[in-house]
Amino acid sequence: MDKEGFGKYFKSIYQNGCLMLSIGLGHDLGLFKVMCEAKKPISVEEVAECLKLKERYTKEWLSAMVAAGIILQNRETNLYTVPEEFRETIMTQMGFAPILFTLGKRSDKVKECFKKDGPYGISYQDEEASGWFDWFDGYRSLMCDNTVDNEYIPLLTQQGVVPKLESGIKVLDVGCGSGSYANVLAQRFPNSTFVGLDYSEVGVEKANRTKSKKGLTNITFTTGDAHNLPEEWTESFDFVFVYDVLHDLPNPHKALEQIYKVLKNDGYFSLIEIGFHSNPVDNAGDRSAAMYYACSSFICLPSSMTQEPRIGYGACWGREEIEKAIKQANFKISGKSSLIVIGTKAFFLCTK
Ligand SMILES: C[S@@+](CC[C@H](N)C(=O)[O-])C[C@H]1O[C@@H](n2cnc3c(N)ncnc32)[C@H](O)[C@@H]1O
Repeated sequence: MDKEGFGKYFKSIYQNGCLMLSIGLGHDLGLFKVMCEAKKPISVEEVAECLKLKERYTKEWLSAMVAAGIILQNRETNLYTVPEEFRETIMTQMGFAPILFTLGKRSDKVKECFKKDGPYGISYQDEEASGWFDWFDGYRSLMCDNTVDNEYIPLLTQQGVVPKLESGIKVLDVGCGSGSYANVLAQRFPNSTFVGLDYSEVGVEKANRTKSKKGLTNITFTTGDAHNLPEEWTESFDFVFVYDVLHDLPNPHKALEQIYKVLKNDGYFSLIEIGFHSNPVDNAGDRSAAMYYACSSFICLPSSMTQEPRIGYGACWGREEIEKAIKQANFKISGKSSLIVIGTKAFFLCTK
């Protein structure tokens, strides 16, 4: 990239960053919902009235979206519309944008963590992390049905786990967070029994709330530490899954040992991680990887540094090193290929 090209590229990062803040507002205030559900072009006054917002602020937001090409404004009528073909993308993907508000709230603590004499990390149990769970639960709830139905269940079908889930097995979700995936799977497979475990009380509370809303009776949530699963769980689960958690732990290798312990001898272990490369140089030029490294410095890395041995892999631990860790923990990686990558995710299906 030459000097001029780099100048443009650098500026585009700022432009997109600011726009993402506006998308976050559109999500949190319900502006996108109103715009995407509108049956006909709509005025500023109508949008503002519908959400009990001030017209002037609503107009500023709409103008940002018009300038960004996300919403169209008719020059003659001044009415606004979201093109039909944009709506699904907006409704399913806008939930990520408010992460910026959560990261912003943590920034002072994160800066302290960077300093040699500052704290080691920030736990998911931290006060600000509760704010994080509000964002995370909202984000996951917009996309988890789609991810489970269109990505996860097809992979589990390919690996032969689905007939077992249909007939009824015992399943553990380690690091279940607000229980999004576990609750959807429990709903899809009513003959199986699910347990979701997470370190965070806030996460477990939210998971229980969703469980009640869905009226599920085949799932329980509990607080616990992935590094130290209960002895009485030894060889008691047919299927253990871990979704976007292992890299957050101070010692992922210890957690893998514990998962090995609680899995039955003929059981399945499914690990879903972020699928970039382990050597940062192999991710050079990948803006998606750049985004994950950036978010990781605020959330994943501080979580993985909270306790000894502070291995601190961060979100981009990477598929090559993860594969080594799985094998080192004595799991066999099964399936047509050892690893399936969809978008930014890496799926490993393993047996004992
Ligand atoms: C990125 S979230 C993923 C949550 C969930 N699996 C999902 O994908 O929706 C990571 C989760 O790991 C949990 N976690 C962190 N350290 C943990 C530990 N030592 N034991 C159990 N869970 C832990 C956090 O509380 C958080 O809910």
